[in-house]
Amino acid sequence: MEFKIYKDNTAVAKAFCEHLLEIIKDKQKFHVALSGGSTPKLLFDIMAETYAGQFPWEKMHFYWGDERCVPPDDAESNYKMTVDHLFSKIDVPKENIHRVLGENDPTSEAMRYANLLEINLDRVEGVPHFDLVILGMGDDGHTASIFPHEIELWNSDDHCVVANHPESGQKRVSVNGKVINRAMEVAFLVTGKGKAEKVEAITQKKEGFEKNPASLVSTTSGKLLWY
Ligand code: 6PG
Repeated sequence: MEFKIYKDNTAVAKAFCEHLLEIIKDKQKFHVALSGGSTPKLLFDIMAETYAGQFPWEKMHFYWGDERCVPPDDAESNYKMTVDHLFSKIDVPKENIHRVLGENDPTSEAMRYANLLEINLDRVEGVPHFDLVILGMGDDGHTASIFPHEIELWNSDDHCVVANHPESGQKRVSVNGKVINRAMEVAFLVTGKGKAEKVEAITQKKEGFEKNPASLVSTTSGKLLWY
């Protein structure tokens, strides 16, 4: 577990872009699972506006660690957020974007996406293996869309599960813990004072820390970074 701490979210985003460029440069293809929510918006803006000319977009294949079960043009869609902040500003081949079809039935889409990961990615002990999984963390300690009230989904045998938001009940498709922990590298991007206490509880293994899905992230063979 490596901590990369910066003075503000712009500094985090820039440092992360530099790191991304570093780990991509020797790859023929780079398979990355993106996080959703609001934190990645600034990262994507900076990737597209400050670093657009440096990224080898044609080598990069974009997936999502989780997606809300809504249409792709819905304000809640992680895919839409990524189009607005990144894909609409850069020239990435359409076939490199592998969105979760949020408009589909959640259960069948979780199966479809799990199969897509099996086809597109190398597998390590049968589990699809990302070069990088970018994760956010909710202030309730959830990550991807594995929430504390259904933390057992983390250990599902299915690569992708259907999760339920604890307040809104909104259905989500999420990768499971095995897919996350099999990645070559996992990077948490967490900013804002509101999450500091939860980050401390998890990383310092304070009383009850294991009730937080984010505490279950521990890459078996790769690196775990906290930006
Ligand atoms: C999602 C995300 C989720 C997110 C956290 C943090 O679909 O909402 O993937 O796991 O990373 O909820 O969200 P914020 O960045 O908005 O705080």
